[in-house]
Amino acid sequence: MVTSERKLSRNYDRAAWFYETSSHIYSTGQIKVAKVSQLRFLQPGQRVLYLGVGAGEDALEAARMGLQVTCIDISQGMLQRLQRKLDRAGLTAELICCNAFDHCRYNHYDAVATNFFLNCFKRPMMQEMMKHAISLVKPGGRFFVADVSPPQGSLPARAFNLAYSKWAMALFWAMRLVPWHENYDYAAELRQQGMTVDDVSDFRLAKVGPIMFQSVAATKPVEVPATQAARRPHVLDVAPSSAAVTAAVDGPGQAPTAGGPTHA
Ligand SMILES: C[S@@+](CC[C@H](N)C(=O)[O-])C[C@H]1O[C@@H](n2cnc3c(N)ncnc32)[C@H](O)[C@@H]1O
Repeated sequence: MVTSERKLSRNYDRAAWFYETSSHIYSTGQIKVAKVSQLRFLQPGQRVLYLGVGAGEDALEAARMGLQVTCIDISQGMLQRLQRKLDRAGLTAELICCNAFDHCRYNHYDAVATNFFLNCFKRPMMQEMMKHAISLVKPGGRFFVADVSPPQGSLPARAFNLAYSKWAMALFWAMRLVPWHENYDYAAELRQQGMTVDDVSDFRLAKVGPIMFQSVAATKPVEVPATQAARRPHVLDVAPSSAAVTAAVDGPGQAPTAGGPTHA
């Protein structure tokens, strides 16, 4: 792992113990609801990939539902928490510690989820990562992203959305977890990348407040030929210095996963 990736993974290792709990408090539980709502599009036995899975509360539910779950994260600390949860529940999933750009099972997954992951990047890199994630989905397969919603509704609702999301972003930015960026309109981004947007579900703070979170489900058109992998960028947005491809690191409590840039 090169220096900037190591720094990023260390920053997320440090955040692993509080990340999910604080997101529950911050979102009044709606972040988890938004992520788990995606499971209604899937059937047991299907292959689903979680990119930037973190501590994996969504991946855990997917495994519980009988999906074949693969999880990627650059932070070993995050994956260790997920592994412990899987162990406690008697469930299994494939956990791979690497940079998501290095996972290259093209056209392989029935679904790829990028929940609260694409917001780790500034727009150009976010678009590259989205393109890469789409390249991993089978034609006809699904792409999911749950994240902070772009401001919408009345002026006070939009103002609240911005104020509430930006103080959280400021905190994460200060911890060097995310770069400063606007709240992305993922449905529009997905359409630009040739995806068919099937569903955009909004989630309100405490179920009744302003719209703060969104879950977008899209389908990869069948007629699109196997997409070329997005060229792997050489710079991570968050970390200050440049980065190149990393090797996979052995996941916690599991057999070593495929090393190097491709996981066949
Ligand atoms: C904001 S957290 C979201 C975690 C989880 N998806 C959730 O919804 O709780 C972003 C996660 O992406 C991981 N991450 C950031 N950049 C990554 C990269 N280039 N490759 C793989 N994982 C990355 C971080 O380690 C972190 O666990």
